[in-house]
Amino acid sequence: MRKITVVGAGNVGATAAQRVAERELAREVVMIDIADGIPQGKALDQWESAPIEGFDSRVTGSTSYDAAEGSDLFIVTAGIARKPGMSRDDLLKTNADIVAKVSREIARVAPDSIIIMVSNPLDVMSWVAMKASGFPRERVIGMAGVLDTARYRSFIALELDCSVEDIQALVLGGHGDTMVPLVSYTTVSGIPLTQLLDRERIDALIERTRKGGAEIVGYLKTGSAYYAPSAAAVQMAEAIARDKNRILPSAAYLTGEYGQDDIFLGVPCKLGEGGLKEILEVELTDDEREELNRSAQSVRETIAKLEGV
Ligand code: NAI
Ligand code: 2OP
Repeated sequence: MRKITVVGAGNVGATAAQRVAERELAREVVMIDIADGIPQGKALDQWESAPIEGFDSRVTGSTSYDAAEGSDLFIVTAGIARKPGMSRDDLLKTNADIVAKVSREIARVAPDSIIIMVSNPLDVMSWVAMKASGFPRERVIGMAGVLDTARYRSFIALELDCSVEDIQALVLGGHGDTMVPLVSYTTVSGIPLTQLLDRERIDALIERTRKGGAEIVGYLKTGSAYYAPSAAAVQMAEAIARDKNRILPSAAYLTGEYGQDDIFLGVPCKLGEGGLKEILEVELTDDEREELNRSAQSVRETIAKLEGV
């Protein structure tokens, strides 16, 4: 790609920009933030790591969207992050306002670009971005499932004391306490997880996954996770930039898939050139389908709270 812009040069955004540059996913990497000096300073610092890390992606920072003109892809992390005791929904109104403004600016300076949304509450912010930008669903995709699945996989690897590489799993649904880790699709080198762990231990791992974001907030106290979240967003960016056709759980705008309409929800997506290429509809058990419906309902209720924003 020629240019990737990260909006929000905070913890997730700056870490994502560095990862994008180190992988040389684009010739130019731009960071935009409202806090004057932050995107410029972090970008210069990152560029100064280029001779050591050996990348040629030019990293720059700005407070002006003019610097993002013609970008192929945006990773949007602008907003406020969760503090201890705050739910993701507490962020709703502030971040909806920020994301709507950011999305309109993106549509102005790069009308053909693709947006990977990261700001929380994720499924609702993706919806706001699509409505505010006027982009088709192929070009607005939310990051949550890759992160939630990575957490689930990392916990299973700890429990079994085996390589994370051998764990395949899928977490669907909204990014929140109602997310749906699919035990029926969780395998360890092809072996169903249910043959390796009893149901009680699996349930404990699922519970830890659901609360994975809060666990980090509890430790950090002044902010939320950013190493794994930035890695997840950049994996999606890489799938698109390198046209890899990866199947990654992502928040996509549903128009009837999984029985849902006019909401974003985490589902298996094929990501490649142009963004969302396909939504895969997988078979679910009755319990999993019920959980997915509950998760969708929770996203819908949060969207409803946005009235008047
Ligand atoms: P942070 O506070 O470190 O960074 C946010 C940045 O956004 C700040 O630098 C701030 O100045 C900037 N910002 C605020 N308003 C802006 C605007 N109008 N235009 C441009 N920049 C603006 O927060 P962090 O940790 O980077 O998190 C960012 C967002 O990502 C939060 O909403 C957080 O909840 C979310 N998040 C989502 C995850 C997911 O799985 N989808 C995982 C981790 C974080
Ligand atoms: C997380 O899951 C806060 O959504 C963020 O870490």
